[in-house]
Amino acid sequence: MLINPPGIPDIFPDKIEAWNFVVSAARDVFKMNNYKEIIIPILEYTDVFARGLGNETDIVSKEMFTFEDRGGRSLTMRPEGTASVVRAYVGNGEYNRLSSAKFFYFGPMFRAERPQKGRLRQFNQFGAEFFGSIHPYYDFEIISVMDKITKKTGIKEYSILINSIGCPECRKEYIKELKKYYHKNSAGLCEDCQRRLENNTLRLLDCKQEGCSVLKKNAPLITSHLCDGCRSHYSKVKAYLDMHEIAYQEDPYLVRGLDYYTRTTFEFTTPLLGGQNAFAGGGRYDNLVETFGGRPTSAIGFAAGIERMLLLIEGNNIPGRRLDVYMVHSGAGALEQAIKMSAMLRSSNISVELDPEAKGFKSQFKKADREMAKFAVIIAEDEAASNTCTIKNLSTGAQEKVSSEKCIEFLYASM
Ligand code: HAM
Repeated sequence: MLINPPGIPDIFPDKIEAWNFVVSAARDVFKMNNYKEIIIPILEYTDVFARGLGNETDIVSKEMFTFEDRGGRSLTMRPEGTASVVRAYVGNGEYNRLSSAKFFYFGPMFRAERPQKGRLRQFNQFGAEFFGSIHPYYDFEIISVMDKITKKTGIKEYSILINSIGCPECRKEYIKELKKYYHKNSAGLCEDCQRRLENNTLRLLDCKQEGCSVLKKNAPLITSHLCDGCRSHYSKVKAYLDMHEIAYQEDPYLVRGLDYYTRTTFEFTTPLLGGQNAFAGGGRYDNLVETFGGRPTSAIGFAAGIERMLLLIEGNNIPGRRLDVYMVHSGAGALEQAIKMSAMLRSSNISVELDPEAKGFKSQFKKADREMAKFAVIIAEDEAASNTCTIKNLSTGAQEKVSSEKCIEFLYASM
């Protein structure tokens, strides 16, 4: 038997209704906020991520699926969408000429992480990126878009964590102080953090190792080092969230695992996912467009993990999940009538399943149950002879015989 690689799962039909439910909730909210869909490639030149995310990040230094193509060029399966969207935006004169641009995307991402519940090597994200303004309203808009999507999918137990990690200017002083603090306490750091201490000090705040988490509790706070511009920006973002009654918690250590962020960072977290507690995250990245060769353009965005959101809505009653009609037939002439009736119902947007080889009522009702059908439409010899059908409501057990022409009308009235 051939098998799939670890952390690269198949997604079977029993997950697809919930999947489409999440995706269409996201699509609806993106549309309401005028975000336009962009389809970005799955393969990029490795430099897009190395330059975009930072060589010292975990993603670039140890999690990318990278290989050489036949011409010896280094390609990488995208580990996230932001760097690709920025690369596409900078390269497209039509879009980056506009004063602002709003994009959303869906698709698979690839990270060679150690697979576990909620942590895959191929996983799917939806995300949004906004280009063209440093106004704090957009930080609020991006957070509120994810908040609306979360609420629409029925996820209830979650928190929004926010922080400001300042701009490169105010971060300079902070990093000096952070370095001093960690140098004094370096014995307690894990091996990775000892290595990161010089070149990627901020990342030490992101480490989940026990010793590092303990040290973090007394580390200096970035929020006490923000310059006037960054402090005022952060206050305005919080004021917009307060004004719109979006609850949040400030986490002065939320630095996120990617180097491109400036000012606002945020995460949607839940205690229900264990170790992988974030199901969405994002932030402002005001310098990335310039790093990619574009003119200076402020930007902000987020991405959410579809598989993690599915874990959170598992067991919820997803609308549209049930089959409308299971067609039950038995006896002479019944099958032909049942096939005809099925075609009629389907062309009226009523979903139908029928098994031409079925033997006996019992097995057909069992299958109707398994498909969670709302109704059984029964055609036995009697119905076939009189051009009628019996419609049974499978939730209440009530049934009624109607003429074949009235079947659609009856079903619409009962659904
Ligand atoms: P990220 O926090 O790396 O951010 O990923 C966003 C979401 O993708 C996470 O919150 C999680 O739900 C999901 N995710 C990440 N890794 C995995 C995995 N191995 N298995 C399953 N789900 C996973 C970004 O990707 C940024 N591009 C977000 C962004 C957009 N920032 C600005 N714009």
